[in-house]
Amino acid sequence: FAAITPANAMKMNVIQPVRGRFDFVDADALYAFAQQNGLEFRGHPLVWHTQAANWLEEEGVDRDTTLAIMYEHMDGLMGHFPDLPYWDVVNEAIERNSEGVWTFRDTFWHRMIGDDLIDLAFQHARALDPDAKLLYNDYNIEQLGHPKADKVFEMISDMKARGIPIDAVGFQSHYYVEPNGNTNPGVPNIQAIRDNMARYAAIGVDVHITECDFRIGRPLDPTKEELQKSFFAGLLQACIDAPNCSHFTVWGLSDVDSWVPSTFPDYDYAHLFDAQFVAKPAYAALTTVLAQYNPDGTPIGSGGGATSTGGTPSTGGAPSTAGAPSTGGGSRDDGGCSVGPRSNTLWPA
Ligand code: XIL
Repeated sequence: FAAITPANAMKMNVIQPVRGRFDFVDADALYAFAQQNGLEFRGHPLVWHTQAANWLEEEGVDRDTTLAIMYEHMDGLMGHFPDLPYWDVVNEAIERNSEGVWTFRDTFWHRMIGDDLIDLAFQHARALDPDAKLLYNDYNIEQLGHPKADKVFEMISDMKARGIPIDAVGFQSHYYVEPNGNTNPGVPNIQAIRDNMARYAAIGVDVHITECDFRIGRPLDPTKEELQKSFFAGLLQACIDAPNCSHFTVWGLSDVDSWVPSTFPDYDYAHLFDAQFVAKPAYAALTTVLAQYNPDGTPIGSGGGATSTGGTPSTGGAPSTAGAPSTGGGSRDDGGCSVGPRSNTLWPA
């Protein structure tokens, strides 16, 4: 593993529980863990309707006050972490409305601020941190031809065309198989994901797989586990093959502390390790894919790779010990090949 995303520690209800009072305890602890282990640390999320602070709707009485709250929140959070390589600036802002039209999600932020909410958030993020890569992050946007994926592509193309500073799109990649063994017709469809990555490449937008998991409707059986395995491996291979897909992140490591059962009552088993921390077929399949590549991403045997450059992986520079967190020197966007000093164990014995 080369990166970590806080699942909850940076969300508004955790980080700014009282207006103007930020609580960075959990986020700082994860950040320190990332630093100690040579992991990139990803900012998630800045503007999201879920897990927002419970004072938000009280204090945001009109467009101006709500916009001020949004900016203050971004100032506080990005100001505390001034060197993160990536920020999910806006999370999950598109939905299908009651008329069946895919459009801006009806959230408090959108009701108060309006259609320019997303533009304003990205512009503010860029002003705060010109070097961070800025993402729009969402689910069900992975496959070309899915109406939500097409809508989000249209939105991001339009933002690019108007000069709104967006660098990448986060494909959350939460997939599933139903309890009866069915998948949605045509889902997962790795070719449709490849095609979607390609159209983003054509408009100069990177793709990050940000929250991959594959939940299984109970009961677990070998056929469902096989679908999970081929999904994980197929998605990773699609990302590696796409010149603009730089990151593959899984949303949780094991079934021990999964977000799935409490969110989707009939589902579980979504992750790479089971409830006993035993690696699943999906884990083996990912390592089989990765084993074909050198640390620099060139295929083994292609003539590239670490051996041809002297065999020493580059580190991102010495970690800063000064007050403000830093994710290491050099370019912050290392294309996902973050290789640095790290311990050999992911968690203490
Ligand atoms: C989830 C967390 O994993 C859970 O612990 C929490 O209860 C709810 O949120 N999309 C996102 C993530 O962008 O922030 C969500 O994380 C999962 C869906």
